Amino acid sequence: MNSKVFPENFLWGGAVAANQIEGAWDEDGKLPSVIDTVVGLHSRKPSIKWNQNKKIWELNLDPTKTYLTHEAIDFYHHFDEDLELMHELGLKAFRTSIAWSRIYPKGDEDKPNDKGLEFYDQLIDTIISKGMEPIITLSHYETPFNLVAKYGGWTNRKMIDFFIKYCQTVFERYKGKVHYWMTFNEINNLMKYPYVAGGILPIPPKNLDDPLSDISLKDCFQASHNMFVANARAIQILRKIDNKAKMGLMCSFSQLALYPNTPNPKNVFGAYLFTRKSFFFSDVMCRGHYPMYIIRYWKENNLAPEIEQGDLELIQNFTCDYIGFSYYKSSVFDVDKKMKVDTGGPIGIENPFLKVKAPQPWNWPIDPEGLRYVLNILTDRYELPLFIVENGLGMDEHPDKKGCIYDKERCDYLKMHIEQIAKAIQDGCNVIGYLWWGPIDIVSAGTGEMKKRYGFVYVDRNNDGSGTLRRIKKFSFSYYKQIIESNGTDL
Ligand code: BG6
Repeated sequence: MNSKVFPENFLWGGAVAANQIEGAWDEDGKLPSVIDTVVGLHSRKPSIKWNQNKKIWELNLDPTKTYLTHEAIDFYHHFDEDLELMHELGLKAFRTSIAWSRIYPKGDEDKPNDKGLEFYDQLIDTIISKGMEPIITLSHYETPFNLVAKYGGWTNRKMIDFFIKYCQTVFERYKGKVHYWMTFNEINNLMKYPYVAGGILPIPPKNLDDPLSDISLKDCFQASHNMFVANARAIQILRKIDNKAKMGLMCSFSQLALYPNTPNPKNVFGAYLFTRKSFFFSDVMCRGHYPMYIIRYWKENNLAPEIEQGDLELIQNFTCDYIGFSYYKSSVFDVDKKMKVDTGGPIGIENPFLKVKAPQPWNWPIDPEGLRYVLNILTDRYELPLFIVENGLGMDEHPDKKGCIYDKERCDYLKMHIEQIAKAIQDGCNVIGYLWWGPIDIVSAGTGEMKKRYGFVYVDRNNDGSGTLRRIKKFSFSYYKQIIESNGTDL
């Protein structure tokens, strides 16, 4: 490959989220966040109960379930050695989230939790001292549970101030150290996962058995509006506190690699309309205004959120500096089939043109060209720097008799995707970095299991919670290292 394709300062790295890696879910003053109440995003029922006297939701963990995120891979106590492995891997950037409920455990208190801040002081300093750029997500499905239980979450405007107080604390603390921030992980998953992605809970609930069924589309639009205002205000204060730092949005853009099943105009336009469910979020956060298609949709369906004076100006004046996004798979749209969505993106009908077999049982189609397609679409629409902050391959893996894990499929996956990124750069896309999702095995967000492993480093922990937590380098470790060392040329 041409040695000049990837820019010198290209951010090769890895990405994780606090809740999927740290564990220590209730240590050092941390209180639960929404994700601590579920076993994976796909689960319909959070482990909570309604307290009629106090008019508040309470945690109600089910002793028959294993909440693997509660201990995860215990990065909280192993981060130094794990980051040393990431350094050895050659990463130039390491993305993680700050668990909001370590800093403000309840979310609505005035003073931050010193112990939580001290943990991230050490973590961020260690990332930097090991030669990596920290890339920080402010909320990766991690709204403090108390804010959701007491205020109903993001449908409530008060959330904006709670979030901004938290942003201000960490922006001031990590000024000059963190140059890349993102507000809400996969904000466009809000409609699909309103509880975890949008931190929405109905108060008081109508349906005690299935409270999430009370959440309406109107609630989702209200929550997204409040999050857009929060995003704009976060950018506003970041520019004051640290004007060299950049704020990105973060969307799941596997959603954009959506192909019509046939040339039937209903399939072509139907697929296009489906992508607008995601473009809606990036249009607002990059262009700074609500697009006409959504205003019309609100009007015709009586779904318009309450917008206060000054909100639209904020959204207009403070747009994102770059687009962070995840890409895992593509899908095929057919007007006669109902589309589903999971953490990886939409699930449509099978694409017979994709040749590489998807790992089972998750069956996420492998489509590297889809990544080039998405990068080009985003460039044409926004002309902003693009940061691939998640891409990866989850597989069920076990060490062989000699204790080795030969993950050739992961190497092939990397090679194919990096080739397509190189093509997109040559197409004119301004790609600033590539972060592999889960460079060390972590808990899956969707299913809440350990079995779906993404890492270049294996972690001995199993779905039932057993395991020694021992770390083992997989075969792909040296392959990604070689790619980074050669700046994407030695594939
Ligand atoms: C993205 C999330 O949806 O996909 C991550 O930002 C998640 O948190 C990743 O882990 C992969 O999904 P899963 O369900 O395989 O963990």
